[in-house]
Amino acid sequence: MLVLSNDIVKYSDFNKIPVDVIVLLLPPVNFTIKAINLAQVLLHWEPNTDQEQRNVQLGYHVKINAPQEEDYETRNTESRRVTILHKGFSASVQTVPWNDRSLQPSSWVSAELRAPPGSPGTSIVNLTCTTNTKANNYTHLPPYQVSLHCTWLVGKDAPEDTQYFLYYRYGSWTEECQEYSKDTLQRNIACWFPRTFINSKGRDSLAVYVNGSSEEAVIKPFDELFALHAIDRVNPPAKVTAEIEGTCLSIQWEKPVSAFPVHCFDYEVKIYNTRKGYFQIEKMTTNTFISVIDGISEYSIQVRAAVSSVCRAVGPSSEWSQPIYVGPGPNLTKQTHRMQAPLPHRFICTDEIHSMPREGDQQKKRESVSGNFQQGYEFLQTPATEA
Ligand SMILES: *[C@@H]1O[C@H](CO)[C@@H](O)[C@H](O)[C@H]1NC(C)=O
Ligand SMILES: *[C@@H]1O[C@H](CO)[C@@H](O)[C@H](O)[C@H]1NC(C)=O
Ligand SMILES: *[C@@H]1O[C@H](CO)[C@@H](O)[C@H](O)[C@H]1NC(C)=O
Ligand SMILES: *[C@@H]1O[C@H](CO)[C@@H](O)[C@H](O)[C@H]1NC(C)=O
Repeated sequence: MLVLSNDIVKYSDFNKIPVDVIVLLLPPVNFTIKAINLAQVLLHWEPNTDQEQRNVQLGYHVKINAPQEEDYETRNTESRRVTILHKGFSASVQTVPWNDRSLQPSSWVSAELRAPPGSPGTSIVNLTCTTNTKANNYTHLPPYQVSLHCTWLVGKDAPEDTQYFLYYRYGSWTEECQEYSKDTLQRNIACWFPRTFINSKGRDSLAVYVNGSSEEAVIKPFDELFALHAIDRVNPPAKVTAEIEGTCLSIQWEKPVSAFPVHCFDYEVKIYNTRKGYFQIEKMTTNTFISVIDGISEYSIQVRAAVSSVCRAVGPSSEWSQPIYVGPGPNLTKQTHRMQAPLPHRFICTDEIHSMPREGDQQKKRESVSGNFQQGYEFLQTPATEA
């Protein structure tokens, strides 16, 4: 058996007979990093052709050094990463044995993508973006359309003649802004896309890139990745209605305009007793809420929605819906009719208090009311801490 000087001889554990001769692992060659899209790079390398394969399966250990450290292994010779690029990007790769952990990995090879030129003070700052979903009224288009709105501030060192340009990428779609808002020096400081290729239920992040030009300075580009759940402005629930029957206040609504189905929403209901200045907020996952009320006050009702963690990562709630008012109204508020503190099980909204419940409604109401009784009680007792 010929053993080259830089070879490792491997023995089987049982009979101590050499079973393989493996050349020390050599690093990959021609490692390159290329920006292939907004906030997306392609890392590519080739196996070292001098590497003797023998019976060893090879893989690669990739280490991203900047802008954010990351570490992973792959058997491929290329790898795509989604990342911001305005600070530059650098990575290293080494050859590793795929199965046999007793073998030593190769040395590292590195490559980098330099940060784009321009002084940092010329970049935009405070980029914020939000998305919103609308129903589409045209049957030949998808049922929902997602808009995007972004705002930013001009960099402190950006010359007066600076002009900025915004692009977004979602998946493989890239679009340039067509509708800018400008500051007094006619510099773009906000952008509106009435419709985009963003999939509001998608898990990809949204890449936003803003570059610029000026006669006097090189404007450094800026890019940022946004998680959709964090920037989505969920619509408030639709068609909120409320009615009072005796001492039962029953509130209903529909899911917000959204590509997410009905089971994907959590709700909060805010009931404000305008006569007593009390309010109550209830959290729920159903589209109905029934509460025991005093029957003499006017109530303002608002509902808001959030996409539940069942369907995506938790993000901000919608705005409250426009208030709707139920009850006798302000002209009765001067009555000296005093409410007695309700006692559990004695104060239940059923047909004993008001007649003629609709067929089928009764059982449902009873369950909801007893289930929410405690909150109904607090509602009458808790002073307002808001508004
Ligand atoms: C590496 O790049 C050089 C020059 O571009 C090329 O000649 C060579 O074939 C490449 N090696 C491999 C293994 O692809
Ligand atoms: C912009 O962002 C910086 C840092 O996040 C913050 O300190 C500053 O108050 C923001 N400026 C404005 C006008 O929002
Ligand atoms: C669809 O119609 C509704 C109701 O008329 C309207 O509020 C909404 O803005 C329309 N959507 C679009 C995308 O134009
Ligand atoms: C900004 O970026 C876009 C997209 O990469 C490019 O087409 C355009 O030329 C750039 N503009 C400036 C002023 O650098």
